[in-house]
Amino acid sequence: MATEKIIPAKKIDGKLSVPGDKSVSHRALMLAALADGDSVIDGLSTAQDVHRTADCLRAMGIEIAADGFATVVRGKGKDGLQQPAKVLDAGNSGTTMRLLSGILAGQRFASTIDGDASLRARPMERIVKPLQQMGAEISTQNGKAPLTIRGGKLAPISYEMTVASAQVKSAVLLAGLFAEGETSVLQPSVSRDHTERLLRHMGVPVSSEKNRIALQAAPLQAGKIVVPGDFSSAIFWMGAAFLLPDSNLSLYNVGLNATRSYALKIMQRAGARLALESIDLHNGEEMADLVVASSQLQAFSISGKEVPLVIDEIPLLAVLASQAEGTSRFEDVGELRIKESDRIHTIVENLQKMGARVREWQDGFEVEGPTKLHGAHLDSHGDHRIAMAFAIAGLVAEGESLIEGAEAAGVSYPEFFQQIEELVTF
Ligand code: S3P
Repeated sequence: MATEKIIPAKKIDGKLSVPGDKSVSHRALMLAALADGDSVIDGLSTAQDVHRTADCLRAMGIEIAADGFATVVRGKGKDGLQQPAKVLDAGNSGTTMRLLSGILAGQRFASTIDGDASLRARPMERIVKPLQQMGAEISTQNGKAPLTIRGGKLAPISYEMTVASAQVKSAVLLAGLFAEGETSVLQPSVSRDHTERLLRHMGVPVSSEKNRIALQAAPLQAGKIVVPGDFSSAIFWMGAAFLLPDSNLSLYNVGLNATRSYALKIMQRAGARLALESIDLHNGEEMADLVVASSQLQAFSISGKEVPLVIDEIPLLAVLASQAEGTSRFEDVGELRIKESDRIHTIVENLQKMGARVREWQDGFEVEGPTKLHGAHLDSHGDHRIAMAFAIAGLVAEGESLIEGAEAAGVSYPEFFQQIEELVTF
């Protein structure tokens, strides 16, 4: 276990590119593998999670090769995957396991997909149920991984989701590629829509009307995919720039898909200074350069339908709340309890260790700010976003902090601790 020492920072400034969007990268690899012919993916994420997806696809006979900034995937068509010789390993990656299960459900072979201790503790019934309804045979360990999937020709369904989860939606839509007729999902509220956008880009008809998304199976066209910078990684640097005095930071080509970047709106309402430059669009995904600067923040609140749109940014937003004037409330965030760690608990525990005033309940918490944080011995609990959010908290605290399990950052952002050294003035 790596422990990182974080000392108080004076300011953060400079220009940087964050790794490619993790959600888009998983989808780009999977869809390119199912397409006919070679696809070139620009800016694929360096995240360990994304390597897991690539390795699972390789284990099913797909060639994936890095060529500088580009990654070439030799797609073999929808029916081109081969039975893997061993158990597929999704590691820590919920997206790998849940989305790939949708594809495995449509294969004529049986396969098993497993993950690390954290992933084995996360609920899989939410994808198993609709995939079984479509005709796949799936066995689980009490609703959890490892999953053994015996796939085949699937029947289309019209599935009413109970949680606004992009992973559930995507698993059903990807299985729909192997069903004849229209497969649709009705989501309780909007969740990230990268799957829909990329499927359309690759020639699959996908309609989306309010919260009902429908797909007709079609061959996928290989081509070029540009992965934007990961908003969920950029948020850590944005947070550091807001909180440290005299800071000014430019972040290049950050993905701004509205179903992902709602935290920008919340931050603007809280008084954050930020601007967008060079707005661009590739394969249906908006991206722009973000310019951020030191800001005086007011308390903010998040609840209901906003939650899925900021779900991965909440650890960092909670750190910001500790420095904002007033009480910030995070309501209806029960899904955080079943992420890579119980994030309500790991956020609250670490904030309290640093002296913040925090109150927790079953599906939420509130933070009363501003409090001058003090350095503390913190624990990532093996969760990448907790490691990074509390590294930023450590930069704005008084005294030294230790982050135990800091290596977890590599799950989404292997370069993170190195870039702190490059961007921060101590
Ligand atoms: C993701 C969806 C979200 C998110 C996760 C990535 C995706 O999970 O928290 O980090 O790529 O589809 P849920 O679908 O469980 O909300």
